[in-house]
This record gives sequence, structure tokens and C-alpha cells, in this order.
Amino acid sequence: MTSQTKPRAACLIGWPAAHSRSPLIHHYWLRTLGIEGGYVIEAVPPDEFGDFVFRLSIRGFVGANVTIPHKERALALSKPDARARAVGAANTLWFEDGELCSTNTDVEGFINNLDASAPGWDKATDALVLGAGGASRAVVFGLIERGIQRVHLANRTMERAGALADQFGARVLPVAWDAIGDLLPRAGLLVNTTSLGMHGQPALELDVSRLPAEAVVTDLVYVPLVETPLLAAAQARGLRTADGLGMLLHQAVRGFELWFGQRPEVTSELRALIEADLTHA
Ligand code: ATR
Repeated sequence: MTSQTKPRAACLIGWPAAHSRSPLIHHYWLRTLGIEGGYVIEAVPPDEFGDFVFRLSIRGFVGANVTIPHKERALALSKPDARARAVGAANTLWFEDGELCSTNTDVEGFINNLDASAPGWDKATDALVLGAGGASRAVVFGLIERGIQRVHLANRTMERAGALADQFGARVLPVAWDAIGDLLPRAGLLVNTTSLGMHGQPALELDVSRLPAEAVVTDLVYVPLVETPLLAAAQARGLRTADGLGMLLHQAVRGFELWFGQRPEVTSELRALIEADLTHA
């Protein structure tokens, strides 16, 4: 078999080799689209990452996903697009005319999931984003790119919110963590990017009854529950929601398209498959 006829393969580069749903997602799309290809996990320690990426093509890969702790290095070792540069981290690598390019698909994962789950969400003039870590940067950049007028950014450590606002400009307004309650009545979109609600973390205490009736609520957390207490409370109030599992699935679309040449769909069958895996983990 020559290298031209070898099935295309991509990988997920991380350290340590964390349990990831990405192989399940990409194998589902390869199978349902009838594409001969592969997606494997590669555990690569930090001191070997540069060499691994340098030889990515020689190793037989058409591209890769990159996760903790390599996302910043991946940005530095490739030609990043505007999204990867704005987020300061790359999670998807591919080759274009022999050049290693990168992007950050969390931005479109977040936005496309909202479009699919709560169409019209972007009528909101004010968004309230909780958290100012890596995930928040992708969310804030996506909201600014989409034209949301004001993004109120609340973080436990307010300096981090201030730093993000400095980077993204006047439409991002840093607010103190204890000001969240006062902002709820004008938040047409509420996004939790903090780890509150995850395994071993306290719950996010927040009174959703103070949100406007047309508000949309998003939680990036999807473990241990896809329907987090925040999303459950929002739904009980009749608000529209978008969950973290949807964002995970939507962020995987672009990598698959870049590596295998077809744009896959986020189907309810795929959702059910990954949800079952999360439940049994
Ligand atoms: P990620 O890349 O997933 O965004 P991160 O960079 O570690 O992860 O950011 C985690 C976010 O959750 C931060 O905004 C963090 O607040 P600080 O910047 O003050 O650390 C937030 N967070 C974590 N635990 C929290 C808690 N108990 N209360 C409030 N916010 C919390």
C-alpha cells in the first residue's frame, strides 16, 4: 500500500491521555458517511510535543486535535487563524498547501450550538458571561464576532475579567462576582463557563427567576450531568437552553471537515451515543 492510498487519519494529542469522547464522535461520522479513515488518541508529554507536531505528516496524520496542556504551544508552532489568535490557544491542526494551520473550534462550537438549540438568541443586546478562563475567551470572542452589544463578564477573580476586557475592547464590561444578581434582569443570554457544577465543585447558586422571560441559558459544563442544575432550573422556568454536550459536538464538526473533506452533521443519534457514554463513564 502506498502512502497515497492509506486511509486518512487524525489524532487527539494530549498529556496525560485523558478519557475523551472525540474518538467516538469522529468514528460515528466516519461510519455514517462511509469514509475510510481513523482517529486515535496520542499521549505526548510536553517535551516531545514540538517534535511530534513537526513529524505529524510523516507519522501519517492529516491533522489533529490538541488538548491540555498543549493548546498554547500548538498555536505557536502553526499558522493560526484570527480565532486561535484571539483565544490564545489552538485546538485543531490541519495542513494547507503543506503548511500547518490552526484554529480554535470552541468559538464556532459555542455559536453554532446556540444557533441550533435556541435560534434567535442573538437578539439579546446584553450577555452575561460567568468565568474568565480559557473557555470564556472563546465564548466572549464568539459573542463579539456575532455582534452582541454588551458582554458583561463576571469572574471570582475580577482582575482576570479586566484583562479579558482589555483585550476584547469596550463591548466587554468586567463586573464583580457579587454583582451577578443585579445584572440578571437585563441578561438576554447567560453563559456559565466556570467549573461550578462539575464533579467535586460546588453548585452554581443563581436565581434564574430574575432573568427576562426571553432569556437563553447556556452551561458549558456537561459532566457529571448534561442537564446541569442551572439548565434544569432555567427549563423549569420555561427558558430556552443550550448545553455543553451540544457545544462539544458542534466544535468537532470543523476538524472533521478539514481532515476528511465532508462537513458532518450533529444528529440526535450522535447526541444519544455520547450521552450514553457519559452516563456509563
Ligand atoms: P477553562 O479553561 O475551562 O475556562 P480555567 O481557565 O481554569 O478553565 O477557568 C476556570 C474558571 O472557573 C475561572 O473563571 C475560575 O475563576 P477564577 O478566575 O477566579 O479562578 C472559575 N471558578 C472555578 N472555581 C470557582 C468557584 N468556586 N467560584 C467561582 N468561580 C470559580
